[in-house]
Amino acid sequence: MSEIRVSAPDLDEADIAAVGAVLRSGMLAAGPMVAELEAALCDTTGAAHAVAVSSGTSALHCAMNALAVAPGTEIVSTPFTFVGTVNPALMCGARLRFVDIDLDGFGPDLDQLHEAITDRTAAVVVVDLYGQPVAADGVAAAVGGRVPVVEDACQALGAAHRDRPAGNLFDVGCFSFYATKNVMSGEGGALVTDDAEIAASARRFRQHGMTGPYEYAELGYNYRMTDVLAALAVRQMARLETITRARQSKAATLNAGLAGLPGLVLPAAPDGVSHAWHQYVVRVTDDFACDRDTLAKHLAANDIRSAVYYPKSLPAYPHVAAATDGPTAFPNSERAAREVLALPVHPKLSAEDLERVVTVIRDIAGG
Ligand SMILES: Cc1ncc(COP(=O)(O)O)c(C=O)c1O
Repeated sequence: MSEIRVSAPDLDEADIAAVGAVLRSGMLAAGPMVAELEAALCDTTGAAHAVAVSSGTSALHCAMNALAVAPGTEIVSTPFTFVGTVNPALMCGARLRFVDIDLDGFGPDLDQLHEAITDRTAAVVVVDLYGQPVAADGVAAAVGGRVPVVEDACQALGAAHRDRPAGNLFDVGCFSFYATKNVMSGEGGALVTDDAEIAASARRFRQHGMTGPYEYAELGYNYRMTDVLAALAVRQMARLETITRARQSKAATLNAGLAGLPGLVLPAAPDGVSHAWHQYVVRVTDDFACDRDTLAKHLAANDIRSAVYYPKSLPAYPHVAAATDGPTAFPNSERAAREVLALPVHPKLSAEDLERVVTVIRDIAGG
């Protein structure tokens, strides 16, 4: 029985050759491939500007800096996400204010979001968790234009909300090209925006605040992406639709195969949403035949890997709790952290792999 991995890089010989070509060119730092990647991101998202950087975290840091997230300000976000969503605000010296998630889709509770914005709020950060864009209309209504909205679309490249591409649903969008992402370069990231000032700020911030040769207008970092890595991402951007369709088809197979099992809540893309299925995440509730960790062990015993994204609500981490204003207990986030389990959904899965996943889960559920 071969192992079914929870994620697998989807690289072909031509991708590897593209990296070889960059190595032979002698242009290893930022160069033509980075510019190509930025053009492809503008093309895909419809955003006017794209700034490629070294990671999703650095893209979010550029966004926070551009929006004057600083000591004395707060960002409003959700606690059920990767810690990289909020660490950039902390790097800027800001405080955090969380609102709970809505268990359908893991976006922010819109009433709480509306209430949480105050005159200290510098920005709202929403997360397109698992590749599902947040309810953009609801978020826009709750925020009401009072503060800018940053979209953490690190998991959602290729997704869309009412035909509007993820990453370009709000003022700034951030992507990650980390090794497990739908488009990946090992490490890497990018910010997209229609706002020329935000883009210019990000371009300075990724390069020591540089405005010209040895001209430094402000503090910045070295957040540049390399051409070696951009070459990989460019190749995958060209087949993004194929990648997304493959994931959508695997998710549909899992949804059909796992339907009707008591206590197993399956993920569903709401009407008008094209889900990128970065992760296929079920919720194993108390009504299921066993608890989440027992199911994960049963899958592992059958050589099927699964994963928990994420095992804790963020205020469980001391550095986050210390920087959090307002509530720190969030029932829906804590419940999600107990119940979620990501099953394999990557494009390399065969029909037999998916059948095995379904059979093993049906077996433990007794149906
Ligand atoms: C939701 C979310 N936010 C932020 C990040 C940070 O991206 P990176 O790991 O590229 O820094 C990631 C990816 O790991 C993510 O999934």
